Amino acid sequence: MMIRYGAAAAIFLLGTGFGSPASAQTAAAVPTFNKDVAPIFYANCTSCHRPGEIAPMSLLTFKDARPWARSIATKVNDGTMPPWHADPAYSSFVNERRLTGAQKSIIDRWVKGGAPEGNPADLPAAPHYPNGWNIGEPDAVLSMQEDYPIPATGTIDYQYLVVPANFAEDRWIQAWELRPGNPKVLHHVIVYTMAPPATAAPAAAARSAGPRPTPVFSFDSDTRIPAGQTGGPPLPPEQRKAAGPNDRLRPGPLGPSVGGYVPGNSVRRFPEGAAMLLPAGYSFIFQMHYTTMGEATTDRTRFGLKFASAPPRVVLRTASLINGALHIPPGAASHRVDASMTINSDVMLYSMVPHTHVRGIRWLYDALYPDGRRETILSVPNYDFDWQHEYVFREPKRLPAGTKIFASAWYDNSPANKSNPDPGKDVWWGDQTFEEMMFTSLTFTVVTAPVPQR
Ligand code: HEC
Repeated sequence: MMIRYGAAAAIFLLGTGFGSPASAQTAAAVPTFNKDVAPIFYANCTSCHRPGEIAPMSLLTFKDARPWARSIATKVNDGTMPPWHADPAYSSFVNERRLTGAQKSIIDRWVKGGAPEGNPADLPAAPHYPNGWNIGEPDAVLSMQEDYPIPATGTIDYQYLVVPANFAEDRWIQAWELRPGNPKVLHHVIVYTMAPPATAAPAAAARSAGPRPTPVFSFDSDTRIPAGQTGGPPLPPEQRKAAGPNDRLRPGPLGPSVGGYVPGNSVRRFPEGAAMLLPAGYSFIFQMHYTTMGEATTDRTRFGLKFASAPPRVVLRTASLINGALHIPPGAASHRVDASMTINSDVMLYSMVPHTHVRGIRWLYDALYPDGRRETILSVPNYDFDWQHEYVFREPKRLPAGTKIFASAWYDNSPANKSNPDPGKDVWWGDQTFEEMMFTSLTFTVVTAPVPQR
């Protein structure tokens, strides 16, 4: 796990008395925590920087934030906080985390001016996170059925935990949030839907009968995932490892995914009038990727859902664009892997999640429209494996039938990549972080698709 939970850095600021209030600045010119800084932190930082969240310290109160003042100025000025990696020259995003120049300047002047607290009367109300949920009080909280044991050391294969939902009626997912039981060992979760056993769901079976429509996407790149990896064919029996007592194998075919958790991306709110369908009787399968942390522990991750009260205008679906045939030679410092597809229906593209492992350094996506226009729709010039963002377009991209999407990912398999576990290795597709992926998850709607009436 790459996220660092450093606490030592907090100490050095205590008692250093830097930037004493008697310095050249007049008191009036120095921004205060209560009046100027707290509103910035509440809006941009405390979703992660509060007790129980992924960041190493809370920024909710003056007392919490004050010891970190110098580090805050550094991280804000160099752009590492708040974390966001899309190049703002291409597209803008509803969930982008960026401070304005004015906000950065307030923080900088606050720190240089001695990081004063200010007048308590100026402090706005702190944001409310009901029972810790960022999405507000969920309509349903679905939980793993066990405290899954994670050993102190070793590599853990992906585990598949069934999380019953079993609603009697279709539900429209308006927002969701994944809350890890133990964020220190949870590398990612992908939430898949799972159809009920066929006998129990004649209605669901009837719905999927009938002529198969043209697929929405045709892929040019090799979308086959190697045997034994998630989504690929099973390994031949002689190569399969015997399941251990803690192995939770895939109980059956995975339905479409509805989303996932990675550090920094645990919440999704769909735009007004758009929702994802959880059909009646369906449950979820959590694909869990755990990493060990030197100490045995357990995890029980929860999934909070908010439902739309009425069927939405548009139904959101997910798809993935991959190149399963990637091969990165040893030592290659900037190895490019491409994937592309043609869109066969008019589509609105809502979001993209670029995903590689620790050798990935950059992503670029172009759309080539049927009229010949080519547009970069997402550029991630400094891709960082620690931050797997979902880039949700502010204006969903209208992609007419015939549009092609080109994706390129670059990998650094050289010793210069500090995250590289072994620059001497040939790297192929694989689930583990010492292997690689070239994977993009897309959220879209088919423009002409009528909302199913049931
Ligand atoms: C999406 C979650 C998230 C948001 C939003 C976020 N942070 Fe962080 N922050 C983290 C995590 C996780 C770490 C520890 C890992 C790291 O340093 O990359 C961190 C580390 C830091 C550190 C370094 C702490 C140290 O060890 O010295 C500072 C300072 C910081 N954040 C300030 C901020 C400020 C200020 C904001 C808002 C303007 C902010 N962060 C927004 C998640 C977040």
